[in-house]
Amino acid sequence: MPLPIEPARDDADRAACARMMCETDPWITLGRSFERCLAAVSDSGRELYVARDGATVAGFILITMKGQFPGYIASVCVAPNARGTGLGTQLVAFAEARIHRESPNVFLCVSSFNHRARALYERLGFEYVGALKDYIVEGHDELLYRKTIGPWSDFTPRQ
Ligand SMILES: CC(C)(COP(=O)(O)OP(=O)(O)OC[C@H]1O[C@@H](n2cnc3c(N)ncnc32)[C@H](O)[C@@H]1OP(=O)(O)O)[C@@H](O)C(=O)NCCC(=O)NCCS
Repeated sequence: MPLPIEPARDDADRAACARMMCETDPWITLGRSFERCLAAVSDSGRELYVARDGATVAGFILITMKGQFPGYIASVCVAPNARGTGLGTQLVAFAEARIHRESPNVFLCVSSFNHRARALYERLGFEYVGALKDYIVEGHDELLYRKTIGPWSDFTPRQ
């Protein structure tokens, strides 16, 4: 049964997402504290969506629709005990549908050491664009990916 995905409601949701992030890679290796994760998921310029399993946040996806490259998936994370069940795929599909109301492109970055996430994105149709060398920490690159439904010139926003 797919879990319901909806906008984060309150500080408890944001704290649950920040805790999930800071306790797992890639954010451990990238040196992201709970406070920095909380700031990221609380940014009012971004949209935070959570997957609920009863009262528990089982996963989340954070996107931004602003800037020169709107439609950027800033973070996606699934609780360790819920991984490998299709929830990550479901969250990315949800974000794609949201982004395609306003943009034909979905962008994301994945850390060069995060091989399983890379495999997942490639399986979902994301194309590798290039490496941002030593982007967050020395020794690890951020790899930019894009998935598109066509050029901007053919795109009609659906608000
Ligand atoms: C990446 C992530 C969101 C995928 O969510 P998920 O619910 O496990 O994904 P799905 O069940 O839809 O697909 C499973 C696939 O995800 C990928 N995957 C990446 N990291 C994984 C992990 N730690 N555990 C299980 N699967 C993982 C694999 O490709 C896996 O396929 P496989 O079983 O053939 O190896 C999740 O594993 C996670 O939160 N990882 C830690 C945070 C992270 O790396 N986020 C991405 C940052 S760019």
